[in-house]
Amino acid sequence: MLSVKGLNTEYKTQKGPPVKAAQNVEFEAPKGVFFTLLGPSGCGKTTTLRSIAGLERPTSGAIEANGRVVYSSSQGVFVPPNKRNFGMVFQSYAIWPHMTVFSNASFPLEVRKNKLPKAQIREKVMKVLHAVGLDHLAERDATKLSGGQQQRLALARALVMEPEILLLDEPLSNLDAKLREKMRFELKRIQRELGLTTIYVTHDQGEALALSHEIAVMNEGRIVQIGSPRAIYERPANRFVADFIGTTNFVDGDVKGFDDQTKLWRMSTPIGDLMVSSDAPLTAGGKATLSIRPEDVELTEEAPPAGRLLNLANGVVDQKVFLGDIVDFQVRVGDVMLLSRAHPSLRTPIGDKINIRMDPMKCVALPAEPAAAAQAAA
Ligand SMILES: Nc1ncnc2c1ncn2[C@@H]1O[C@H](COP(=O)(O)OP(=O)(O)OP(=O)(O)O)[C@@H](O)[C@H]1O
Ligand SMILES: [Mg+2]
Repeated sequence: MLSVKGLNTEYKTQKGPPVKAAQNVEFEAPKGVFFTLLGPSGCGKTTTLRSIAGLERPTSGAIEANGRVVYSSSQGVFVPPNKRNFGMVFQSYAIWPHMTVFSNASFPLEVRKNKLPKAQIREKVMKVLHAVGLDHLAERDATKLSGGQQQRLALARALVMEPEILLLDEPLSNLDAKLREKMRFELKRIQRELGLTTIYVTHDQGEALALSHEIAVMNEGRIVQIGSPRAIYERPANRFVADFIGTTNFVDGDVKGFDDQTKLWRMSTPIGDLMVSSDAPLTAGGKATLSIRPEDVELTEEAPPAGRLLNLANGVVDQKVFLGDIVDFQVRVGDVMLLSRAHPSLRTPIGDKINIRMDPMKCVALPAEPAAAAQAAA
């Protein structure tokens, strides 16, 4: 288990105020969980990971690994990185040339104080090489590996110390798209098989959704939402998360009131009066923004079925893009353009009218933007 509390890390600059790279970062990654820090470039992911590793000295906060305090500003504890027993793989991992695969992986054990007997080192190294699928290449020159194999070797080197926690900073970023996808599965398999608590850093939302048990979305040094991949995607807590993860339609509107029976909110919007859901309380008479995913904007040529509580609207097909397994429709509703991701069997021509229906649970109301400013001030 890794627990991070109230973590602040700053960088001093030559002139001007320090850069507040991580601000009040808090999360808990239970044992064996694949936990991801996700966010755009410069949001503080690497800073947070390096602070956990002990490579940066935070200004305040506390970090605990499996019950052991490795950093605490209030208790004056700072355990140096090599005493934390965390394994790390960085974006720019280095494979040592002029060394075999085996000696690359065994290096951390060779340089360790209280060196183990040779046979034991061999056993440990072969075990991790087997886990990453490189045991058959143990004697090969490490430079004569493919990109993906080198990446797995870097991982093996981090694993050989049997770390309590594995820290990975964009380890797949210098692989090509195909290999990256393949390595995702490999990484997930290795993590699961070893049951390793893993903190993973990426700016790639697809990677985060595919790999993680839990995701913390970061923006400007702060965590703005923590949740499962599905929760982050289906129930974004704010506009930033809805926009950063996947594609969405934003529709602004006025909050009319709450319906006790359905537990839904009534909103008046440029695409009509809608029933919507919200995880945070809204204010009747106030404003809110709806996030509706393109796959939740359902299009039909037939009249909608009765009996299901649905938001209905009428639109005109403005554009469509055939993508093979799906067709992206741009549908004009009044002044609003909605993106709908439809099945290719829908062949409504451009300029034709079309029925739109949206499940109220998939119309997610987000509090009006000042929330971001209020959060920054907190
Ligand atoms: N050594 C440093 N000195 C001063 N500022 C730094 C230093 N390292 C990072 N920063 C700043 O701290 C902020 C967070 O940087 P960080 O490297 O943590 O971002 P990141 O989320 O990892 O971004 P990326 O996805 O580009 O790797 C940025 O504004 C960055 O410019
Ligand atoms: Mg980074």
